[in-house]
Amino acid sequence: MILFAPSILSADFSHLGDDILRTREGGAQIVHIDVMDGSFVPQLTFGDPVIRSIRPVTDQLFDVHLMVWHPERYVKRMADCGADLITFHLEAAEDPRAVIDAIHAAGKKAGLAIKPATPVEAVRPLAEAIDMLLVMTVEPGFGGQSYIPASTGRIAAARRMFAGLDRETDIEVDGGIKTDNVRVVLDAGANVIVAGSAVYRGDIRNNTRKFMEDFALWEAENE
Ligand code: DX5
Ligand code: ZN
Repeated sequence: MILFAPSILSADFSHLGDDILRTREGGAQIVHIDVMDGSFVPQLTFGDPVIRSIRPVTDQLFDVHLMVWHPERYVKRMADCGADLITFHLEAAEDPRAVIDAIHAAGKKAGLAIKPATPVEAVRPLAEAIDMLLVMTVEPGFGGQSYIPASTGRIAAARRMFAGLDRETDIEVDGGIKTDNVRVVLDAGANVIVAGSAVYRGDIRNNTRKFMEDFALWEAENE
């Protein structure tokens, strides 16, 4: 099943809750939440107080994308403020397996993210432990960038890697995804789609709905 996760990074924070609800009305199942520390990536965003305040607004799944050094410091906070899925960067953790274990111990799903320059093969030792791999399709840090074409082969390589496992592993893509290139990532094997500027710039509900319609078409063609 294809899941849609609009990224609130491109929302208008003066009415964040309302903006999120428009994505729900459009059919998006997930809220993608970019937590940046101003060090692992240049930008600073927000942390658990903001996530806690939007938690009662919607029943959508909260997908927290941690772009922070030493993510182990934030697992409990994120679990406590309402995250359902906690994703951290392989490049940011000294002991990624311990972070995955901590996320699972907190009762949450664990996602692992890789930047465009990190080989997909680096994930293999952890492949059986994670619930989702986030293949970054831009350099993390900012919304509104262009999709890196080399990402397509990386998504396909990740899909092949997970194909041999007993468990189902989601592959999320994040960065530069629009309705005009989303088929490329779906064909390659991604099933959790993040989009920020393509949703939150303009009519949020309609933008969301257009993605959902494309997903339904793709699923009908690929049954
Ligand atoms: C970038 C963030 C993304 C961002 C995507 O580091 O992880 O979630 O919001 O924005 P778009 O879809 O505009 O590329
Ligand atoms: Zn993100």
